[in-house]
Amino acid sequence: MEAKSWKDSSAIMQRVVLPPDTNVFNNLYGGRLMEWIDNIASIVAFKHSRRNVVTGSIDSLYFLTPISIGDIVTIESRINYVTKETMEVESDVVSEDHITGDKKFTTRAFLTYVAVDNSGKPVPIPELRIDTEEDRIRWEEGAKRSEYRKSQLREIRKHPPKI
Ligand SMILES: CC(C)(COP(=O)(O)OP(=O)(O)OC[C@H]1O[C@@H](n2cnc3c(N)ncnc32)[C@H](O)[C@@H]1OP(=O)(O)O)[C@@H](O)C(=O)NCCC(=O)NCCS
Repeated sequence: MEAKSWKDSSAIMQRVVLPPDTNVFNNLYGGRLMEWIDNIASIVAFKHSRRNVVTGSIDSLYFLTPISIGDIVTIESRINYVTKETMEVESDVVSEDHITGDKKFTTRAFLTYVAVDNSGKPVPIPELRIDTEEDRIRWEEGAKRSEYRKSQLREIRKHPPKI
């Protein structure tokens, strides 16, 4: 498989916040934003792997500023790091007042997707090509997060709750 640049799979989603997307304060409901983030990030994972993918994990999400009804939400997603079968996709969320054009950074999420075959078993994906210094820095930071995630995954698998 030929290595791919992050540019081959990056994607942008824009939405205007409408009444069905809001909570009791007329702000964007957090669950809706998480759905949009997962949707656009999965597109990036599809485009990089050209396989079926499942969401493995979403790193902690901190919502820094509320997003109001009528705001324009832009989510930019790109790959930072891959392993043999997984992809780390970063999604940055910015809200924009539709009248004034004021923009606010809302949140950043790192999602991990696993490419799978038709029986749900992990399968190999293309490598990520590193072309620039920024690509290299993102790769190294992604590698550190990946190690941390794997240690968390081992812990969760070792100590599942009693059900
Ligand atoms: C994700 C899944 C396919 C992994 O299958 P598995 O046979 O347990 O995979 P393995 O343990 O061999 O792990 C394969 C790779 O995936 C990574 N991985 C597995 N589960 C993961 C998870 N939940 N989060 C992040 N990474 C994960 C492993 O660390 C490993 O990475 P590596 O290639 O860097 O070493 C499987 O656990 C699954 O189907 N989970 C449910 C996914 C889902 O339903 N998501 C929500 C709806 S899309």
